[in-house]
Amino acid sequence: MNAPYSVSDYSHLVQRDRVHSAIYTDPAIFEQEMARIFHRAWLCVGHEAELPNPGDFRATTLGRQPVVMVRGDDGQVRVFMNRCRHRGMTVCETETGNARFFTCWYHGWVYSNTGPLQDVPGPAGYGADFCKDDLGLTPVPRQASHRGFVFASLAPDGPSLAEHLGPAARYLDIYMDASPLGQIAVTAGVHRTRYRGNWKFVGMDGYHPHYTHRSVLDAWRRRPGGNMADTHHGDPFADESGNLTRDLGNGHVLLDFLPGRSANLDRYLDTLRRQPQGEQYIQAMLDTYGEARGRELLAWAGDPHVGVYPNLQLIGVQIRLVRPLAVDDTEVLMFPGLLQGVPDSINSMRLRQHESFYGPAGAGSPDDAELFERNQEGLKADVEPWLHLGRGLNRERLEADGTRTGLIGDETTQRGQLRGWLRLMSETPA
Ligand code: FES
Ligand SMILES: [Fe+2]
Repeated sequence: MNAPYSVSDYSHLVQRDRVHSAIYTDPAIFEQEMARIFHRAWLCVGHEAELPNPGDFRATTLGRQPVVMVRGDDGQVRVFMNRCRHRGMTVCETETGNARFFTCWYHGWVYSNTGPLQDVPGPAGYGADFCKDDLGLTPVPRQASHRGFVFASLAPDGPSLAEHLGPAARYLDIYMDASPLGQIAVTAGVHRTRYRGNWKFVGMDGYHPHYTHRSVLDAWRRRPGGNMADTHHGDPFADESGNLTRDLGNGHVLLDFLPGRSANLDRYLDTLRRQPQGEQYIQAMLDTYGEARGRELLAWAGDPHVGVYPNLQLIGVQIRLVRPLAVDDTEVLMFPGLLQGVPDSINSMRLRQHESFYGPAGAGSPDDAELFERNQEGLKADVEPWLHLGRGLNRERLEADGTRTGLIGDETTQRGQLRGWLRLMSETPA
């Protein structure tokens, strides 16, 4: 097909109520996403709690660039480019583990887990001008964190993490503060999925559950119990539920279930009390945070349902990281966060709830992945390439702080993400 668009100006591909499907299918646009978004913007690498002990590491990628996040022997978490300073091989060859040193398999250069080059084989072959101090592992150009969430940017300059997160930062707090200690453990492993579809399909869609997940909603209605099932008679996705979609700016969006959950909080707390040691958890939250904030945090249930653009989503217990591999190939990593300072039964309950919807045999997520693949297939029929994303434009509100809100099934979230996408894709490198 002759592309009716230029890949240097994307503004005509993302319009008020429609988007051109090439942004999901064109490999040239995907290449630009790698360069302009994934090799430049703030990306979440993971959470410090994944690495409780000195030497714990996880290797991953930022866009296409291999990195390793490691807690050094000094206790500090750093993100390094996973590249030997000799001839450039990856120095960390396994995805997770514990190491005091990273030894390159090629010629045996040895790096400590805090970064410096420690040793080289055959040092007599190097003259006096060979300076090991200059040849440590290369840190990512910028690294910052919020509540233990580690972010990195491959661009040396740009907005600070706080500027990038803006109002989204408080939703990271809501995830963490489901623990009366404000701390999590991320030691329950990772649950991952991969689908043959574009990365921008994942998450933040309050319109589809009545159709894609109808059997789940039917079950919630028949058998309440749980922070979603106890909301609005088992239908938190009803327009009348009071729940909202929010566009926080910079591509950050959320499905805000707080209105519906607050209205039905007493019913949910009764469910929680019936769980082993549920009362103990409720009391710990109220003792730590006080009555008003404690009740609000219990209503949130540690589930801000927020998408921090471009690659982090906090949904239910999950720290969800989205890894685009190709224009039509995406991996999603889901790390369950375990609350610190709560009875084991509470974490067990949260994990079982996660598995029931998101697990490999769950009633929800596998259907989403199937739909994403069919979506990618349908987009091959591009005689008429425009997609409609106008739901709720007729009732979307622009708030005083510049954020936008819609009803829970409105496409405020999709439009917000694509505004963030357009902004990142349109910025010229510094
Ligand atoms: S490439 Fe790493 S030691 Fe040679
Ligand atoms: Fe879904």
